[in-house]
Amino acid sequence: MNINKKKTVIAGNWKMNKTPIETKNFFKDIIPVTTTSKCDIILCVPYIDISYAVKETKGSNIKIGAQNCHWEESGAFTGEVSAKMLKSIDTQYVIIGHSERRLYFAETDTTVNKKIKAALKENLKVILCVGESLEERENDTTNEVVSRQTKVALKGITINQIENIIIAYEPLWAIGTGKTATAEQADETCTFIREIISHLYNRSAAENIVIQYGGSMNSKNAQELLSKPNINGGLIGGASLNANEFVEIINIANSGNV
Ligand code: 13P
Repeated sequence: MNINKKKTVIAGNWKMNKTPIETKNFFKDIIPVTTTSKCDIILCVPYIDISYAVKETKGSNIKIGAQNCHWEESGAFTGEVSAKMLKSIDTQYVIIGHSERRLYFAETDTTVNKKIKAALKENLKVILCVGESLEERENDTTNEVVSRQTKVALKGITINQIENIIIAYEPLWAIGTGKTATAEQADETCTFIREIISHLYNRSAAENIVIQYGGSMNSKNAQELLSKPNINGGLIGGASLNANEFVEIINIANSGNV
């Protein structure tokens, strides 16, 4: 495959971190350094921070995303936020199916699929997360799990819609543990995901889709991971909370060596 490595997308997932004031300070620190960035930059922030982040990044090349949404437009779903609501405050991306949502909030492949459809309907772009647990990797079922997650998530998604989806491969055992998948392991599963996309859609869709790696990525290991042929970006948790560290990863992505 002739993978489009020109498209490098560095995304941060803040998870449940940062108040609006901390959000403002973070963007004040990073915007001057990111104005000439060639790679795409996305920050997925808590709901409460979105409006502040959108305001701070107006006119910059940083895009703001949410970390979840509900599949209905509105209704009696206490505590939930819809894709329509996110769009109304100029959110551009939404993470769907993060393993923490699957693990702690009973998200299933089916609800992930419904959420993706709702997000795309509102013209939000999606970062779909897939990845296996340590037990699944040790049982040699990584490909089986990732294949099921990807196929169910994309059920009913057309070839035109796939252009608005990024897939993040995040092995659960590498998230927040400091234990990164080796660059070879990460690349191998990202390659496998690309083959699934080729099978579900076509070769061109597979060559052009952005597949990120996520799981303890930082400025020390980003170079090695990002230079792998099938990895076109990172979904970064802990290391995206620190402006200097995040900027360093962006600089690596822009260095031309990845
Ligand atoms: P860490 O980078 O903190 O391991 O988190 C990865 C992640 O879950 C991003 O979505």
